[in-house]
Amino acid sequence: MQAKTPKESLTILTDMVLPGETNPLNNLFGGELLARMDRAASIAARRHSRRIVVTASVNHVAFSRAVPLGSVVTVEAKVSRAFKTSIEVFIDVWIEDRESGKKTKANEGIYTFVAVDETGRPIAVPELVPETDLEKERFAAALRRKQLSLLLAGKMKPNEASELKALFE
Ligand SMILES: CC(C)(COP(=O)(O)OP(=O)(O)OC[C@H]1O[C@@H](n2cnc3c(N)ncnc32)[C@H](O)[C@@H]1OP(=O)(O)O)[C@@H](O)C(=O)NCCC(=O)NCCS
Repeated sequence: MQAKTPKESLTILTDMVLPGETNPLNNLFGGELLARMDRAASIAARRHSRRIVVTASVNHVAFSRAVPLGSVVTVEAKVSRAFKTSIEVFIDVWIEDRESGKKTKANEGIYTFVAVDETGRPIAVPELVPETDLEKERFAAALRRKQLSLLLAGKMKPNEASELKALFE
């Protein structure tokens, strides 16, 4: 299987925040943003693997800025690392100032997908070769995040989490 670069999976979704999608403070409802992030990230994972992909876990989400009603929101998703059958995707969320057009980072998230065959069984995916400094940084830390996610899901024993243990040594 031929290795791929992160830019081959880049997926950008731009949409507005409408009244039915907000909380009582008139900001974008968190669950709606998670769904938009999941949609963009699953397309990125699909572009990388060219397979059916399912969301296995949401490893991290930071809602650092509220997104007001009427905002133009851009969700950018890109594969940050591929393992045997699983794919980690980084999602950056930007809001755009109406007058200047300047983009500000509002939120980010990291999701894990698993490529599966028609019967739902995990199937191998191509390797990822990071190119930019940021892509290399995200790639390097992905194994640690995978081990943490597996540990929290009860799918890995603490003494097997070598990357996590190394953090404390
Ligand atoms: C995701 C799913 C396919 C994993 O099945 P599984 O029996 O755990 O499969 P495996 O143990 O063989 O793991 C497959 C891969 O997923 C990874 N994985 C499984 N659970 C994970 C978790 N919580 N966090 C990170 N990675 C995980 C494994 O590490 C493995 O990766 P690798 O092959 O790259 O090393 C299965 O749990 C599933 O179908 N879940 C439902 C998914 C779904 O419907 N999502 C939509 C939301 S409702």
